[in-house]
Amino acid sequence: MITPVILSGGSGTRLWPRSTDARPKQFLPLAEERTMFAATLDRVRDNTQFAPPLIIGNAAHHKLMAAELDAAGLGDNARIILEPAARNTAPAIALAALELADDSLMLVMPSDHVMRAPEIFCAVVAEAEQAAQSGALVTFGITPTHPETGYGYIHQGAPLDGSTGHKVKAFVEKPKRDVAEQMLAEGGYLWNAGIFLMRADRYLEELQCHSPEMIEACTKAHQAAARDGNAIMPNAESFGASPSDSIDYAIMEKADNVAVFALDCGWSDLGSWDAVYDLAEKDASGNAHSGPVTSLETSNTLIQSDGLKIAAAGVSDLIIIAEGDQLLIVPRGESQRVKQLLAATKDKS
Ligand code: GDD
Ligand code: MG
Repeated sequence: MITPVILSGGSGTRLWPRSTDARPKQFLPLAEERTMFAATLDRVRDNTQFAPPLIIGNAAHHKLMAAELDAAGLGDNARIILEPAARNTAPAIALAALELADDSLMLVMPSDHVMRAPEIFCAVVAEAEQAAQSGALVTFGITPTHPETGYGYIHQGAPLDGSTGHKVKAFVEKPKRDVAEQMLAEGGYLWNAGIFLMRADRYLEELQCHSPEMIEACTKAHQAAARDGNAIMPNAESFGASPSDSIDYAIMEKADNVAVFALDCGWSDLGSWDAVYDLAEKDASGNAHSGPVTSLETSNTLIQSDGLKIAAAGVSDLIIIAEGDQLLIVPRGESQRVKQLLAATKDKS
């Protein structure tokens, strides 16, 4: 049985003003009518393949996570680890690994991705189970389409005996643009989907080897955790002492026994408003509008409003998002600037 470990600690600042510290993007219905968190739970609901999930996220979002679990009928079965502070994904996954039995298979999944064909995902996870059981840290690879600098790149090696997976020659997290271009030109690289299948004890072993301070802090935090029903509250002082790092930099770039399985399931990391536009259903003029929006001779725009009446004429290739008393306007193709913009608005207030 595989235990889904669902990561929900990111802040999703690139999707401001809809995604906020109080309600980050995984708790929003951005790609479909349900939230991305709900879609993630649904992906692993087959109880012949998966045990109840272990959620790990920020303590500030306890109510949001608990409500999602209740809505999915998992309120009594799923455990939630509540991080007192964000230390990125490597320590979060360490807490999950410490909570599970040594030989548990963990399927580490972000809660903010879109997958059009979840049944293909489950089938590929099943194919990868044997490799993970025998000690490999399994990654899932997406065929790259452009030199994205926000992803990890996996250099595929020789096929694994008796399965559709491959060994990994190298893992390169968030390369510079020219390096990403070079990898695409060379071929043989896949994007890292950000999903991992591995035994809890294998992860902890790697962490012991590559980041002993992290495992020490996380072990202390877990041993001194407070518990209340299904909620686990690691000790704040010990967890706060952990270095902050992602699994990609802390482990995947350094570990030897890494494998990759190709994943072709309509995967998308909904990381920016441009990505939301790309996935959205559009009218004949390429517009994706929702809420009280009126437009004339407008093309290739993403306009969303939760209440403010928006009227647009003669504009194209714009992203306009209204939420409460906040309004974002940015050209399409430049939505990566939202993070910087949000920081600038915070400086002003
Ligand atoms: N519990 C917890 N605690 N979760 C966290 C934390 C934390 O401190 N920080 C981030 N997360 C969650 C996010 O909510 C998200 O679901 C997931 O962990 C991954 O974090 P991101 O911050 O979104 O990572 P990324 O998108 O920059 O990069 C990762 O994903 C890419 C694919 O989307 C890497 O794994 C890349 O290699 C990969 O290509
Ligand atoms: Mg991400």
